[in-house]
Amino acid sequence: MTTLTGSQPSEDTGTQWDVVVVGGAGHVGLPLSIALAARGARVLVCDISETAVAMVNAGKLPFLEDGAEPELARALDSGRLRATTDPASAGTAETVIVVIGTPVDEHLNPDPHAIPTSLADVSGHMRSGQLVILRSTVYPGVTQLVERTFANRGLDLDVAFCPERIAEGHAMTELYSLPQIVGARSDRVHKRAAEVFRILTDKIVELDPEEAELAKLFTNNWRYLKFAASNQFYMIANSHGLDFERIRAALAEDYPRAQDLPGAGFAAGPCLFKDTMQLAAFNDNNYFLGHSAMLVNEGLPLYVVQQLEAKHDLSELTVGILGMAFKAQSDDIRSSLSYKLKRILNFRAKRVLCTDPYVTVDADLVPLETVLAEADLLVVGAPHQQYRDLQPDTPVADVWGLLGGGVRV
Ligand SMILES: NC(=O)c1ccc[n+]([C@@H]2O[C@H](COP(=O)([O-])OP(=O)(O)OC[C@H]3O[C@@H](n4cnc5c(N)ncnc54)[C@H](O)[C@@H]3O)[C@@H](O)[C@H]2O)c1
Repeated sequence: MTTLTGSQPSEDTGTQWDVVVVGGAGHVGLPLSIALAARGARVLVCDISETAVAMVNAGKLPFLEDGAEPELARALDSGRLRATTDPASAGTAETVIVVIGTPVDEHLNPDPHAIPTSLADVSGHMRSGQLVILRSTVYPGVTQLVERTFANRGLDLDVAFCPERIAEGHAMTELYSLPQIVGARSDRVHKRAAEVFRILTDKIVELDPEEAELAKLFTNNWRYLKFAASNQFYMIANSHGLDFERIRAALAEDYPRAQDLPGAGFAAGPCLFKDTMQLAAFNDNNYFLGHSAMLVNEGLPLYVVQQLEAKHDLSELTVGILGMAFKAQSDDIRSSLSYKLKRILNFRAKRVLCTDPYVTVDADLVPLETVLAEADLLVVGAPHQQYRDLQPDTPVADVWGLLGGGVRV
């Protein structure tokens, strides 16, 4: 294991922490904190959510993440991980990793000041010489803004931008297997930030901060564009009475250049859409490809409803949505298109029933059995494995192609 040097004992526990992770109880910060602790680093999680901090200290994950809970228990037992809401914790380690959320607002504008503003509380406790690693996905230029903000407060800090690239649910393997991009302005900062990520992997890729900021946005935008291509192809095939999944399987068979054509489905969640909007805003909204992808992906629930309406009088029917999370085997409903579908159907159908075996934060959900018993039509919202073998008597709109042989929209 790479060891980190220069930490100072924190006042509350007397522990010497190697890393403080600000936003460390979130979907990205917590797996990262756990992985660093699992490899021997002493990690203090700092988060404004009292509930999440209490859960972490009690060994409970505030959300689903495969394989993370046993590792959290081990890290707590070994004393290598604790969580706190105390902003003063930011001064207790040599390295501060910042991984707070960076959503776009209701008008799809990114907020470049989100990170500098959220650092206001902790920066009063920071000291010159610390290394600050920005891990959130940021609007390009934010690293420089943070550097300037610290300098204006008289703090001489090393700042690096090292984007998180895991997919939710796969963090506990991908944190050790994916190369880590380290964006820094000098050899010294590159070396310091690389030393932190060498705890996880030897695969370090060096860039300037501005290159690294775009590298992260291009990564997520590329994925969003690919989903849009598939969803557009799906709508074309389906509107002509053809089976997209059958066509996709055929064109990809033993054909290397088409292996990366994804299946159709709701392309949603907390990152891909908002990072496409971040890139659009960065390029003064001259981003036709990104905006087209947004129209296609966000339009898919409407397409499903239109197709249902072409065959059924929805105003007389109960529609059931199977799966409200934004993706399979997840409890995360952030920016889930199942909820957009629900809003549209609430207006057009007689009744809407929603179910999800993973989601715990929505009191309106009903058991699967209720949906199967009472719905006249079903729509697969999230392709959870639990639905794969269903053979309902009612017609199913199945954009994902999950229920082989199910009725397609
Ligand atoms: N979720 C993903 O799969 C994923 C993957 C790669 C990158 N990212 C990026 O990582 C960042 C974080 O995303 P997330 O999904 O973990 O968000 P999240 O909302 O799950 O976590 C953010 C955490 O930050 C805390 N927080 C907010 N303001 C704070 C402050 N001032 N001080 C301390 N804590 C604060 C919140 O309480 C929360 O626990 C975003 O920029 C996102 O785009 C997310």
